[in-house]
Amino acid sequence: MYPLLRQLLFLLDPEQGHRLILNLLRFAQRIPGAVPLLRAIYGVRSNRLATEVMGLSFPNPVGLAAGLDKNAQCVPALLGLGFGSVELGTVTPVAQPGNSPKRLFRLPRQHALINRMGFPSVGVEKFLKNLRTDGKPGVIGINIGKNKNTPNEKAVDDYLTAFRSVYAIADYVAINISSPNTPQLRALQTGDALGDLLTALKHEQIMLGKTRRVYVPIALKIAPDLDTNELENIAALALLHKIDAVIATNSTIDRSGVEHELLSQEIGGLSGRPLKEKSTEVIRTLYNQLKGNIPIIGVGGIENADDAWEKMVAGADLVQVYTGFIYQGPAIAKRICGGLEKRIQVSGCKSLGEALEKARSGVHLMR
Ligand SMILES: Cc1cc2nc3c(=O)[nH]c(=O)nc-3n(C[C@H](O)[C@H](O)[C@H](O)COP(=O)(O)O)c2cc1C
Repeated sequence: MYPLLRQLLFLLDPEQGHRLILNLLRFAQRIPGAVPLLRAIYGVRSNRLATEVMGLSFPNPVGLAAGLDKNAQCVPALLGLGFGSVELGTVTPVAQPGNSPKRLFRLPRQHALINRMGFPSVGVEKFLKNLRTDGKPGVIGINIGKNKNTPNEKAVDDYLTAFRSVYAIADYVAINISSPNTPQLRALQTGDALGDLLTALKHEQIMLGKTRRVYVPIALKIAPDLDTNELENIAALALLHKIDAVIATNSTIDRSGVEHELLSQEIGGLSGRPLKEKSTEVIRTLYNQLKGNIPIIGVGGIENADDAWEKMVAGADLVQVYTGFIYQGPAIAKRICGGLEKRIQVSGCKSLGEALEKARSGVHLMR
């Protein structure tokens, strides 16, 4: 069914296609009974897949990555599609239009996308007005970024403003310093800039935790285009500042393997299948550094249970999808969860955590 729908969807301009998906989800939310129906068709019920990460209970480990629901308009419907978590945003402190169109491209033969959206955002105030979390059966992450016009020297202020604004409502907050489409944003991943940012955010988290009496975890979202030294430095700082999770990875500026594709030279971040190995490698390096002391959320080119499993064996505790959702359709979370269930069964384990421990320690499980 979805392959046919996808053919029609792909007749549209890519950004129009994404907007149509969001509008359909919003429409569904307004029809009484539609979200429960989505849940009945696509929902995932599995005690074995329930996972505790960052002190939060995830009903399953498959989340929707940031960037699709930038303005927090579709939470009930997205959770109805079986995702264990939805990461909203990136939201910026003040509304901004993002880059001018065209800014999203498909590479269908590669199951990939290139985007240079540049954080189009309604701004955090309107974002929070949009957000509906009624009876939510999953975890809500809110991904925050800085405004384009804010120079890097003032970036900390933007992150603190957005962090304070979303603290009361987010289950966790993702700090996006890895989009390739905001000039100089990725420089915040290196040198003193990262240390300064994490010091400020951690201090704010502790203060807000005291006054609000709730601890909201911080996850740091990083790029796939970092060398081993840079990754080791990020891992050391994450450990030093007791960051609650690392999300690896955002899209890549690398075009290796897709050079021959018509639109491959469009500027922006490449996501989907061609990113898969690269992001898994980042996860592996990070896991060796973090040694299980900080959980990893694995993202990049996941389309099925094999891809998800590979990321998890490399060190991810949870996974997220974006481009895979566009290419595989609304049943992607359910299908991945079904495949993970099978692996747990075959391994003779009682839970995903146990099966992963076994796999990571080198016991060969079904591929
Ligand atoms: C159109 C598009 C927009 C995105 N916007 C954001 C964003 O606003 N914030 C963010 O942290 N990541 C954003 N991403 C990156 C994804 O969250 C994800 O990290 C990346 O695409 C790799 O996963 P995938 O291969 O499953 O798509 C975006 C990706 C795409 C394709």
